[in-house]
Amino acid sequence: MTELELKDEALKQLVDAFYARVRADADLGPIFNDAIDDWPEHLEKLAAFWSSVMLASGRYKGQPVPAHLKHRSRITPALFDRWLALWDCTTNEMMAPDAAAALQAKAKRIAESLQLAMFFRLDR
Ligand code: HEM
Repeated sequence: MTELELKDEALKQLVDAFYARVRADADLGPIFNDAIDDWPEHLEKLAAFWSSVMLASGRYKGQPVPAHLKHRSRITPALFDRWLALWDCTTNEMMAPDAAAALQAKAKRIAESLQLAMFFRLDR
């Protein structure tokens, strides 16, 4: 497979491939499939998110923390590890090595901050 550079088109392909795997995953799949009705819209949103994160495009205007807090009763730290493992596989397979490494590092940091927000807040 060709290794993709960090560009909007590549990020859309990456997001599509990643969520196809997530949906097929025995542990992660049911959470996403229950939560998301409009998959094309979700995939556009996630491509915009990664475009904002990696290319500073400002295309994503959303609030990831409340979106995940809604599903707090079903999401565990172990599922974050699974999510990150799938992300690492997919980025390694599809992206040029530098791009894959940068995407993996970003996802790891975002996963850490989401988990802090979800599991370690003292004010609730
Ligand atoms: C949205 C699950 C990790 C980024 C969502 C939604 C679900 C979900 C169910 C849809 C929320 C809704 O509209 O009801 C999960 C699970 C994770 C995980 C189970 C790991 C265990 C991550 C990570 C990132 C991420 C690590 C970023 C690196 C996003 C974004 C949205 C989203 C940007 C869209 C939020 C919005 O509506 O603006 N996630 N997620 N997620 N997720 Fe995750």
